[in-house]
Amino acid sequence: MNPAISPALQRIRQTSSRPAGVQPPAGTINLSMGEPDFAAPAPVVDALHRALLDGHTHYGDLGGDPQLRALVAEQATAVRNAAEASAGLPASAAVTAGQVSIGHGATGVLAAAILALVGPGDRVVLPEPTYSLYSDLVEMVGGEVVWVPLDADLHVDVEATLAACVRARMLILCNPGNPTGAVFPAAALAALGEGLAGTDTVVVSDEAYGAFTYGSAFTSALAVPQLTERLIQVDTLSKTYALTGFRLGWSVAPEPIAQAVSQVGRTIAGAPNAAVQKAAIAALSAGESLYADMRQVYAARREIVVEELGAIPGVEFAAPEGAFYAFFRHGVDLPSAEVRTALADRGVLLRAGSEYGPSGEGYLRMSFAASDDDIREGIRRIGQGLAELRG
Ligand SMILES: Cc1ncc(COP(=O)(O)O)c(C=O)c1O
Repeated sequence: MNPAISPALQRIRQTSSRPAGVQPPAGTINLSMGEPDFAAPAPVVDALHRALLDGHTHYGDLGGDPQLRALVAEQATAVRNAAEASAGLPASAAVTAGQVSIGHGATGVLAAAILALVGPGDRVVLPEPTYSLYSDLVEMVGGEVVWVPLDADLHVDVEATLAACVRARMLILCNPGNPTGAVFPAAALAALGEGLAGTDTVVVSDEAYGAFTYGSAFTSALAVPQLTERLIQVDTLSKTYALTGFRLGWSVAPEPIAQAVSQVGRTIAGAPNAAVQKAAIAALSAGESLYADMRQVYAARREIVVEELGAIPGVEFAAPEGAFYAFFRHGVDLPSAEVRTALADRGVLLRAGSEYGPSGEGYLRMSFAASDDDIREGIRRIGQGLAELRG
């Protein structure tokens, strides 16, 4: 039998350059994944174990665990109120549990948000290079992907983005940036909010890497009052707590939007995993104490990358401000997908910049969520490979 595939999948297949996740051959240094190499934090594993022993093995609340939603709401309120206090503004109303949607990772929440709000032909603006999942999701629902290049130093170009947002259904920001490592300034976020005032454009802010910045201040879009009425802020356990396998993400949005996101979420996946949500409560309650050490390790690895990758002739990049990626110009006169393949043949696996949008051509993405030894050996292979390709 040769089953027909849906138009939705056909569109994804025609446009996607996301890899299917095959294992590289033995001996390859894999610097291609957004996968923290740390073990799961022990208190969270203990909480999961306890949740299972306590019988959280059944269908949970279809809208997500009420206790987890209340905790996310409380923490979102704290972020918002702290920003208001430092700006001398009165505290706005508390975020409620009804504004929180829980899903199968940030992936599930993003998919639910796009399915809930974007229809065929709707414009979705993607400042790029950006995380490649967004365009696949927009293609899935038949929306129109509107690419807007980031500015020369890979931060959001406010003017160009606002110009592209005319009659747009949605704008999706990745901050801190995957693949760029750039962190958007608070002023740019506020300017986007001001420019969108009076429109129906929803802003999705994917803050999966918000815990990992290196000297640059990170401002969550939750702390930007100009965005509040149109914001879907997305976060996940995956990167912050090195819990990619837990598949647990959430969003905070105005209640009617949150209800729409939650309804799609439960329609496609049912209730979120009951025991994992109990573990998520443990993770979010402990917060920074669980990831401060990881941030220090990433910061040290970033130093190695800045020094050693930066020493390769022809390679150019800005020191990553956040996340755990170096996004660099390879300086070889070949498409980045070909350079990626040639380096994979030489034992180091990266991602082609072109996967992340048209402006990613000429770049490669290297993850530094890897051991110091792998980072050093990977960079050595990159240097040698690029030298060979230049001839
Ligand atoms: C920016 C960004 N958002 C979301 C995700 C996916 O997160 P999750 O594991 O929660 O689905 C990733 C994973 O690489 C990411 O880089």
